[in-house]
Amino acid sequence: MTATNPIPIREALKLQPGQEVKVRGWVYRRRDLGDKAFVVVRDSTGIIQSVFTPESKSHSEARRVTVESSVIVSGKLREDPRAPGGKEIQGEELVIVGLAENFPIRRDVSREFLLDVRHLAVRSRKMTAVLKIRHTAFGALHEWFRENGYYEVQCPMFVSAAVEGGATLFPVKYVDESTVYLTQSSQFYLEALIYSLEKVYTVAPSFRAEKSRTRRHLTEFWHAEAEAAWVGLDGILRVEEELVSHIVRGVLERNREELALLGRDTEKLELVEPPFPRISYDKAIEILQSRGLNISWGDDLGADEERVLTMEFDKPFFLYGFPEKVKAFYHKNDPSRPEVTLSADLLAPEGYGEIIGGGERIERLDELVAKIKRFGLNPEDYRWYLDLRKYGTVPHAGFGLGMDRLVMWIAGLEHIVDSLPFPRTVARTYP
Ligand code: 4AD
Repeated sequence: MTATNPIPIREALKLQPGQEVKVRGWVYRRRDLGDKAFVVVRDSTGIIQSVFTPESKSHSEARRVTVESSVIVSGKLREDPRAPGGKEIQGEELVIVGLAENFPIRRDVSREFLLDVRHLAVRSRKMTAVLKIRHTAFGALHEWFRENGYYEVQCPMFVSAAVEGGATLFPVKYVDESTVYLTQSSQFYLEALIYSLEKVYTVAPSFRAEKSRTRRHLTEFWHAEAEAAWVGLDGILRVEEELVSHIVRGVLERNREELALLGRDTEKLELVEPPFPRISYDKAIEILQSRGLNISWGDDLGADEERVLTMEFDKPFFLYGFPEKVKAFYHKNDPSRPEVTLSADLLAPEGYGEIIGGGERIERLDELVAKIKRFGLNPEDYRWYLDLRKYGTVPHAGFGLGMDRLVMWIAGLEHIVDSLPFPRTVARTYP
């Protein structure tokens, strides 16, 4: 009797030796020893080896099938300690659904080439593992916000003014030939929505014309942003640490296998529980100076400075109290020390650096207009944003979490481009 319906490879590996099984997927590896042809099949759940001898019906198909061909394999399961998963299929039938041409991806190809054929490289076991972790991270984010009274909202991608400074805006020629921009952040729209929903969040792409080629910059990244009325800096930091801890916990619960496949050491991830340490910008400057870096109070922190700081901590930590001039105009200044803002970044440990930026917003109209002018911007460009301070303004705070950077850190990746399937960088918009 032959098995009639294909089952996931993960399920097949759980069956007792001697049982008939049918699986379908793609040829992961193939070895033809003449009398024995080994075909390792991969599906979304795992890999299993099958072996075809001259007695089996499909011996010749197994000998001619190529890597990445799609196949349906059936036969009898048997124990084999040398096979991945400890079991293999004594192959009876192999149906070739789509015979693959010579697959261009081999062991020795360059990183650049792998990015050129990303539409094929996404099949790799490594990429599959990352995508499963990413799936968990996005799901856990939605879980947390929904369980904690936040409404999910959707904001436009075409916008008319900068949120995060003009230097990284992407202009787009609009239908009427006017110039609009791709959004850098949904923050201002979220701020408008707290007046009805109080606590809101969104997950959407943000666009930055980043000219720098770094390990952690994309031109299109996935941005999870939240905004809450009646909340101050301390309150929003508590939201951030609870949210990030919930996501890491979710991945540790659901993706042990994927983390292992990626060689991710999970010891530090296990430490990700609130509260996260909080260090002031002032203290950070002292630490950096004591480590011999050439930096003075008032300077922005770059990737190198962040890396040095992250080596001081085993878990994510907040850097708060940035000087006015290194943070965007909407950040509220500290009333007790006006040269610094009520802002904070969350930095991931182990060299990863900033994954969240956020803080308290200016709620008073006169203060906001004055700061827009101090930053050399035109209040006219922010007309509707200023309206929010005219009609029932409230204290409020929010943040933006870079999902790709979060996944990069959790999965322990070297480069942000490996955290998502089809990365967009200064050098790449294909495939
Ligand atoms: O610190 P940023 O620029 O903050 C904002 O955009 C705020 N308006 C968010 C808010 O308060 N609603 O960006 C927030 C996060 C960064 O910490 C980083 O993780 C990510 O977005 N990010 C990028 N990720 C990948 N590539 C880029 N070019 C990124 N720019 C920012």
